Amino acid sequence: MRDYGAVTLGIAALLVAAGFIGWAIGHSSGPTTTTVTSGGAAVDPRVATGAYAFVQFACAQCHGERGKGGVSPDVPALTSVGQTLTDAQLRQIIDHGLGVVSDPKKPFMPVWGQVISDTQVGDIVAYIKAGLPDVPGAAPPIVPTNQGDVVAGAVQFQRYGCINCHGPNGLGGVPNPASPDKTIPPLSGAAFRGEFNTDAKIIDVIKSGSVLGKPPIVSMPHWGGVIPDQALQQLVAYIKTLK
Ligand code: HEC
Ligand code: HEC
Repeated sequence: MRDYGAVTLGIAALLVAAGFIGWAIGHSSGPTTTTVTSGGAAVDPRVATGAYAFVQFACAQCHGERGKGGVSPDVPALTSVGQTLTDAQLRQIIDHGLGVVSDPKKPFMPVWGQVISDTQVGDIVAYIKAGLPDVPGAAPPIVPTNQGDVVAGAVQFQRYGCINCHGPNGLGGVPNPASPDKTIPPLSGAAFRGEFNTDAKIIDVIKSGSVLGKPPIVSMPHWGGVIPDQALQQLVAYIKTLK
């Protein structure tokens, strides 16, 4: 039998050395945060924050990944809007929406001013102005297949940003001060279940939206032509499991 002792020792020494180098790098002075890069170049933290918000608030689900369009003919791409609109104009559109009251049969740009903070809107504007670059990690959650409609629906609830307005688990409580109820309604509880007692009624309101009034009132977005039928079924399956 050959003796591997020397080899083993050599490998162990190498591992120790590698471990020490790793430790030394980890403990060296200077910035300890990982730099997010896009194609090798560092991304401005503000732009990166904006990219994550763009995904979180489902801008990407209507305007396409990185605002490239292609989701619905009624929703414009945002790729050139950063050159044609000023920061102030972009902020105005995001805060107050666009077309909310003009055609209830088509998707409109929702009112976000009550839901997204001034800082976050500023970050989104910085991201749009930077040309909506690829920011690693800023991607919507992946909907699992073959785990059933409820799991898929729970993920769709995040993916389409429902959670931002209707709260975790559809518990509601998000303020809507200019609306009659002063709050965005829950998707749970006896009152909701009583009114939305069939799948068809729930699907109808998601597809059509519901315009409560002019900005700054937050209305239910029109998702028809944006959310595919299968995802609608999954959302309903999930909503029906709520409190
Ligand atoms: C429910 C779908 C939907 C969502 C979600 C959505 N938008 Fe929009 N957005 C629209 C539609 C539709 C328009 C066009 C409205 C019009 O022209 O009447 C629009 C218009 C815009 C415009 C103006 C574009 C132009 O060419 O003038 C900007 C900027 C914009 N959206 C940014 C955003 C951002 C940022 C988010 C996320 C915070 C977002 N949108 C989320 C549907 C959506
Ligand atoms: C920009 C905020 C916003 C987003 C995003 C949003 N909603 Fe709504 N939703 C509302 C508001 C406001 C109402 C109340 C409309 C009314 O009372 O007529 C509403 C109403 C509803 C209702 C009817 C409940 C009721 O009591 O009127 C359902 C169901 C619903 N939303 C589901 C969803 C789903 C599913 C999503 C994600 C695909 C979603 N919503 C995304 C704001 C939002």
